[in-house]
Amino acid sequence: MNRVSRLFISRVAGRRFLSLRSNVKQRQFLFAGRTPVAQSKVAFMASESTPLEIHSWRRAYMNAERPYLLEAEMPSKDPFLFFDAWFRNVASKTDLSFEEVNAVALATSDKNGQPSCRMVLLKAYDKVGFSFYTNYCSKKGLDMEANPKAAMLFFWPSVHWQVRIEGVVEKLPLAAADEYWFKRPIDSRIGSSVSEQSAVVPSRDYLNARANELRQSVQEHDPKTAVPRPAHWGGYVLIPREFEFWQGQSDRLHDRIRFRRSDDGQPNTEHTHTGDNGWVYERLAP
Ligand SMILES: Cc1cc2nc3c(=O)[nH]c(=O)nc-3n(C[C@H](O)[C@H](O)[C@H](O)COP(=O)(O)O)c2cc1C
Repeated sequence: MNRVSRLFISRVAGRRFLSLRSNVKQRQFLFAGRTPVAQSKVAFMASESTPLEIHSWRRAYMNAERPYLLEAEMPSKDPFLFFDAWFRNVASKTDLSFEEVNAVALATSDKNGQPSCRMVLLKAYDKVGFSFYTNYCSKKGLDMEANPKAAMLFFWPSVHWQVRIEGVVEKLPLAAADEYWFKRPIDSRIGSSVSEQSAVVPSRDYLNARANELRQSVQEHDPKTAVPRPAHWGGYVLIPREFEFWQGQSDRLHDRIRFRRSDDGQPNTEHTHTGDNGWVYERLAP
């Protein structure tokens, strides 16, 4: 079917909407006048009538320092040290202004098994696990309360590396949360205090008003110690049972090395190797 689209302005409940009507589907957008927001919506709609050729987008994958991830060249047979080597390598690159190296996708699932995924910032890692901070009453917090199994995914496009981590989360001690809380800028503390993360709110104005109210009430206080940590804000550590280190290759034969605990109940194959500190590792087909 040929797509035929028309763009027009309509008014609903006193607000102007820019609408795209086509024989395939109808879309409606709030029209905010000649602001960058309105212009970007128009640009988006222009692309609607000419679908992007996403299927032909393809980047050549090749790590500039090491063409292959080979067992003999792994930085460590302990996945924590392996992660540390890759993380430091990426963090040391000065040309990665567009990448937030410690941004990581966190997957949880609710009590019905429905998975859900969002970005968080990794705040620490050590030989126990990978830590981040959030609102215990948020969607992810409630998910982890019901099901402590979770996963993390790092992707660093400029080196074509992906790291998958699966395991179980535990809450961090409150002392760690207090310590980190006061290292955050006061505006972040105010934002976290007034935001019931994942709850439905009436508007942006509502959030601004709550933040302003708290900001005013603490303006006489020392900004270093003002705004105590709310009880619902704290940290988690993901304690891994499994890691996978992936390095992209342009011929689709990517490198994948999986580490798992040697006592995880999975049978070892003839291609399973003994790693360090209670881990085994094996290469997976890409
Ligand atoms: C790069 C990036 C980093 C983020 N870091 C955090 C974080 O450290 N903690 C957090 O609670 N939300 C963080 N967020 C926001 C979350 O992605 C998410 O919107 C929020 O936590 C609510 O998720 P939930 O409703 O699934 O609980 C971050 C978002 C982005 C894009």
